[in-house]
Amino acid sequence: MKYTRRDMLRWAGGAALTLPWVESGCLRGRPLARIFPSRAPLPEAFKASLPILPVLKPSGSDAVSDCYEMAVRPGTASILPGLSTPIWGYNGTFPGPVIEARQGRKISLRLKNELPVPIVNHLHGGRTAPESDGYPTDLVMPKGEFPAPHMHDLRARVVKEQRDYVYDNEQRAATLWYHDHRMDFTAPQVWRGLAGFYILRDEEEARLPLPRGDKEIALLICDRSFDAAGSLIYPSIDPMLKGEMGVPMEYMGGVLGDVILVNGAPWPRLEVANTRYRFRILNASNARRYELALDPAAGASPFVQIGSDGGLLAAPVAHRSLQIAPAERFDVVIDFSRYRVGSQVTLLNKAADGSQGRVMRFDVVRQERDESSVPTPLIRVGFPDPSRADATRVFNFSFRGHDGWTINRKPFDPDRMDARPKLGSTEIWRLETDFSHPLHLHLVHFQVLSHSGRPGPYDAGWKDTIDLGAGQVANILVPFAGYRGRYVFHCHNLEHEDMAMMGNFEVV
Ligand code: C2O
Ligand code: CU
Repeated sequence: MKYTRRDMLRWAGGAALTLPWVESGCLRGRPLARIFPSRAPLPEAFKASLPILPVLKPSGSDAVSDCYEMAVRPGTASILPGLSTPIWGYNGTFPGPVIEARQGRKISLRLKNELPVPIVNHLHGGRTAPESDGYPTDLVMPKGEFPAPHMHDLRARVVKEQRDYVYDNEQRAATLWYHDHRMDFTAPQVWRGLAGFYILRDEEEARLPLPRGDKEIALLICDRSFDAAGSLIYPSIDPMLKGEMGVPMEYMGGVLGDVILVNGAPWPRLEVANTRYRFRILNASNARRYELALDPAAGASPFVQIGSDGGLLAAPVAHRSLQIAPAERFDVVIDFSRYRVGSQVTLLNKAADGSQGRVMRFDVVRQERDESSVPTPLIRVGFPDPSRADATRVFNFSFRGHDGWTINRKPFDPDRMDARPKLGSTEIWRLETDFSHPLHLHLVHFQVLSHSGRPGPYDAGWKDTIDLGAGQVANILVPFAGYRGRYVFHCHNLEHEDMAMMGNFEVV
């Protein structure tokens, strides 16, 4: 390890008790996420069209696998009207290209680091061998000299300039995503653009009559802030991302942007036919939660959820609104035949007011025949029997002043194993929070057994991220399958993650 004493003091505001979240008494001593405001005028909503994310082409294929290559490099995006925005991107684009995978076909992804900082790639939701999972200290160093990372980890697999990540795709069809996972600097690197979709398909799903083709659309939602020239701004202590990690204490609860982007465009609009559409929704924000709703709603439950983090649900679940925390995915069908051609339907965010209270708009512009449907049941989903769990463990996620964000009162340390589950075993993990935290486990998918009482409305299916509200407790049932090795679990509020709310488990 470790975090230096200086890091701790900075997060906690030093010895002087001038914690801003204590001073503004209503926060009751809890550091909350807050907006880092743009210095550019906010763009007008519903002017930009929704970008449809391009699919990455393989650089080679054989009978059982596909090879892909991407350079992770600086690029330029057109996000605000008339301005250009320097970003860091996979192939220089933000969001990154979509990787389309098929169950049973291996992917090998060669990433070349052309940024001035180390990178790490993690396939979120992937059941991946440890050496390809993107452990935070498994850095891909940049060209040239770079100061040694302050966290020493003897098991780190550090390489220079490029790494081949192998994804087996021996898992169910699901909406996964890839993003940076560099130790201590994940939050600012994802903010600069390092995130993209990875869509895994299988035969079973392909046989269903769900909307497809141009009626299946991936939506990556995130919030960002900009300066007057159009550059992304973020309150890093070291804007070069070389030396000191983290953000000043007033942003330690999480950094929010004031511009809502979908697929990289601010408050875009999409023209749709009056048919069903399937949307794979990802919240790729660092710290912002959304409650998505439609206006007008046209019926009590306009969202028909067909899938979650880990793929299709056993049966569709209808929702009036969707609460989505960082890193969660919701696969939903919206039926625009409920609207007259000519309608404008706004996707709202009921979790915020003003500009951040809207996300995008659907304009129903044409009539079309709809051959799709949402069958009930959708697919067979089998969960293990919780009464046969091999172990129960308790993890408490809380803010502890000088130690920052902790798990069981301890800040992250790559040398400390917080659990050693056996390969093939199933465990119950009891998760407790002081404050809201979207909690994520690498390698596995889990079933939510209880979530401050019964499973919540958004807990159906296999999950890899669970959003716990302040003071909540959840029991999750976790089968440890796939690989032996060391993996992390952590809060996916990326500022909490960077500021130590991460632990290790080693599958043995
Ligand atoms: Cu999406 Cu460990 O991350
Ligand atoms: Cu958290």
